[in-house]
Amino acid sequence: MPSRTHRPWPPLLLAVACQALAFLGLLAAAWAGLRLPPWGWLVAQAGLSAALGLAWRLPGWWLLWHLLLPLAAGWSLTRDLPGWVFGGAFSALALVYGGGLLSRVPLYNASRDAREKLAGLLPGTPGLRVVDLGCGLGGPLAHLARLRADARLLGVESSLLPCLVAWLRCLPRRNVRIRLGSLWSVPLQDFDLAYAFLSPEPMPRLWAKARSEMRPGSRFVSHSFEVPGEPPGQVIPVAGRPGARLMVWEM
Ligand SMILES: C[S@@+](CC[C@H](N)C(=O)[O-])C[C@H]1O[C@@H](n2cnc3c(N)ncnc32)[C@H](O)[C@@H]1O
Repeated sequence: MPSRTHRPWPPLLLAVACQALAFLGLLAAAWAGLRLPPWGWLVAQAGLSAALGLAWRLPGWWLLWHLLLPLAAGWSLTRDLPGWVFGGAFSALALVYGGGLLSRVPLYNASRDAREKLAGLLPGTPGLRVVDLGCGLGGPLAHLARLRADARLLGVESSLLPCLVAWLRCLPRRNVRIRLGSLWSVPLQDFDLAYAFLSPEPMPRLWAKARSEMRPGSRFVSHSFEVPGEPPGQVIPVAGRPGARLMVWEM
């Protein structure tokens, strides 16, 4: 796995800080007497924020974002778009992705094949307890609940809209609970199997949590994202994007 640059803040906050600092810098320059045509200010904002991003070693696509954002904002001001377009787009994105922004985990769904193979990993223990950490739209939970009426399942999801969809989807199943909140606040002691499909970012911390909280004999399953330096006991390829797999650790 490639080594990841350690930054004290999530890239999103650093990127916003770059834009804000560039804006303040240009404001100070204007106050000091600098005069530019309107497009000149936009280009200066794009260049300055990208330079700050470069200095903070933000990944390449954030630099592109810095270059494009002020120009797109300038373009949209010339279009005379109604204000609700911006508010609506921002709210929709926040409702779907807001919960995963700082933990750097977007929403995507496990394939049917992954759900079926996950079901095959459930221990036969009657009344077993399973948690989906970041349950998204609830696909895996709804599938497991249908197959194992005896199991007690919990899904925790930090984004409002996916959480609502998961709750509605699992409503007919009496053995599933869906909770809006952070996976970091869920104690893992009581679960026979903890499943996560997140991103590389939270894996080291999540593994430390699983190691310290899960009982001996329980199972930790990660969809596609490895734990650095901790080879899984079992790897099960699943349909989906290239490299999709379930990795299983016996605790
Ligand atoms: C890749 S999706 C996985 C969905 C589902 N578990 C599956 O396998 O199909 C990851 C989900 O985790 C959620 N998430 C990210 N950070 C979280 C956190 N700290 N606490 C709870 N959920 C989180 C995201 O909002 C996203 O819906």
